[in-house]
Amino acid sequence: MLDVGCGTGAITRGIAETVGPEGRVVGVDVNASMIDKARAAHRGVPGLSFEVADVEALPPGGAFDIVTAARVLQWLADPAAALRSMTAAAKSRGRVVVLDYNHEKAAWTPAPPPSMRRFYAAFLQWRAATGMNNAIADHLRDLFARAGLGDIVATDQHEVSQRADPDFEMRAGIWAAVAATRGHQMVADGAISERERHAAETDYRAWLRDGADSHVQYLLAVEGVRT
Ligand SMILES: C[S@@+](CC[C@H](N)C(=O)[O-])C[C@H]1O[C@@H](n2cnc3c(N)ncnc32)[C@H](O)[C@@H]1O
Repeated sequence: MLDVGCGTGAITRGIAETVGPEGRVVGVDVNASMIDKARAAHRGVPGLSFEVADVEALPPGGAFDIVTAARVLQWLADPAAALRSMTAAAKSRGRVVVLDYNHEKAAWTPAPPPSMRRFYAAFLQWRAATGMNNAIADHLRDLFARAGLGDIVATDQHEVSQRADPDFEMRAGIWAAVAATRGHQMVADGAISERERHAAETDYRAWLRDGADSHVQYLLAVEGVRT
């Protein structure tokens, strides 16, 4: 199995432990520092290895039963090319599986503070301006068909976070984290001012603590078979 855009490899490790020592699981990521962390954190797991690779330049030759990418295509300007590359890395009758977002369908109850609503709108505009598809989840079926994949099945994998959940502030807090990280790149790119970024981060943290009930991130898992 090939896990593309594995990040620091925690999910890849879980897959390897599920597959067992007879299987081979390879995690790849374009970011070399992620792969360094993955190797350091998960050394010694039988059958598991990590390599630096771009999704558009995967090991050729149709070697894998399953090729997967979770939350990766959302960052790409050319997801169709990525899917073609993933398909080519799968064996004949192998499976390609992608999990991704439609950021246009995220929902908050009650509405988050105006500063975060402005930040989120700017985030979507900034992503679109750099060529990323904010609604990639709902385009995956078409992209799979255009990559020549058959037996395509899509399943809802929406992430619902409720106030009563023990990890609610961490999970729903993703947007404070985005403001604190990507937000600086958005400021550098002129998508938002530092004052607006800072207000969004601060107000959203207060809203999470005092006013938030729930947050839903819209995710689909789509799988198809290499014909
Ligand atoms: C949001 S993280 C997802 C990590 C993991 N798959 C998960 O679901 O928790 C996206 C990852 O995709 C990687 N990535 C982005 N563009 C890539 C590309 N062109 N090729 C391979 N990996 C890429 C990033 O470096 C990052 O580690």
